[in-house]
Amino acid sequence: MRAVPVSDAIWWVGAVDWGLRDFHGYETPRGTTYNAYLVRGERTALVDTVKAPFVPELLSRVREVVDPAAIELIVVNHVEPDHNGGLPEVMAACPNARVVASRSGVAGVAEYHDGLSIGEVGADDVIDLGGRTLRFLPVPMVHWPDSMFTFCPEAGTLMPNDAFGQHLASSQRFAGEIGMPLALEQLGVYYANILMPLGRQVSRATEKVVEAGWDCRTVAPSHGVIWRGDEVPRVLDAYRRWTEGETEARVTLAFATMWGSTRLLAESIADGVAAEGLPVRVFDLADSLVSDVTFDLLEARGFLLGGPTLHHGMLQRVAGYLQWLEGLKPAGKLAATFGSYGWGGGACKQTQERLEAIGFSIAAEPYQQKYRPAAQELAEAFEWGRVFARAVAEAPAKAQG
Ligand code: FEO
Repeated sequence: MRAVPVSDAIWWVGAVDWGLRDFHGYETPRGTTYNAYLVRGERTALVDTVKAPFVPELLSRVREVVDPAAIELIVVNHVEPDHNGGLPEVMAACPNARVVASRSGVAGVAEYHDGLSIGEVGADDVIDLGGRTLRFLPVPMVHWPDSMFTFCPEAGTLMPNDAFGQHLASSQRFAGEIGMPLALEQLGVYYANILMPLGRQVSRATEKVVEAGWDCRTVAPSHGVIWRGDEVPRVLDAYRRWTEGETEARVTLAFATMWGSTRLLAESIADGVAAEGLPVRVFDLADSLVSDVTFDLLEARGFLLGGPTLHHGMLQRVAGYLQWLEGLKPAGKLAATFGSYGWGGGACKQTQERLEAIGFSIAAEPYQQKYRPAAQELAEAFEWGRVFARAVAEAPAKAQG
């Protein structure tokens, strides 16, 4: 794959990681890319580097456009190792480049790379490349404290690092090439599993871009495909919905099971939800990707989580998923729990307590059933699903506060 022209005087020179299957717990069945960009005026800048093993791939693409020795500036938008891991090797190949990051990024680079000293840039700085300029916007916690956006006004191109990214390996570099349905879906999977707990900071960052008057005709993130033209407002609108906590009247149902009883309950409950006219998607946690369940939950207003009792408590799969949600802090959603038990019970109580602690509003008492559900119990589960669905239908469409 060659270096790819992105916009006026900007080139994609990043790397494609077809084999990545896990990004700190977020399953990535479609791999990812580590995007880096050359910005060429009379002088040349490299915005972001790549994960360390991919430096040769980056440098080979750089060489198609310019001798690395001619690069005079390297911008580190983010110190997480998928972007900054290869920095020392890239610096060695670009001996005439000075390196800059946000204040927190300067400290992060020193921490990661044995005291490596680089320069600081902030919102008031403009770096003139001769015919092209770069401007900067520190955006703490989008995704780490050091995160920063870089903008080239002459090309109308925003390089916002993790924001607006997708974990999507592709031979195509643009959303319009790979198709907007897939690109927007993967934008949502990424937002749900990485940025959901940072919605306020993401929202503030997009406000700052507007306040700065940056005319972003191209948005070139550090992962996945690049957004251009009328794709940009569609992406911004999706982020607005998610940061504002907009939900749809539908239900995500996830469960784990030992001997199939909780599965039978899950299916009857889902039928009850559907009977009230609400879409519902069912996930067996044993063979579903956590990242897919969480993407479905992103805009769902209702969440049902089921599992049987083992050793007086939850199955490990249910507890593991709750741990994932505890970090992501979904807001503005109703929940309830269900499951089978053999004698003492305990899973539903534990699950409900965890759901409440995460911030879900409990909309129904748990539905519990002993050993294997009989026809009467499946009918009760169906009715329980209907009651939950009615509560979801009547709940507000936006997270409060
Ligand atoms: Fe793509 Fe926060 O790293």
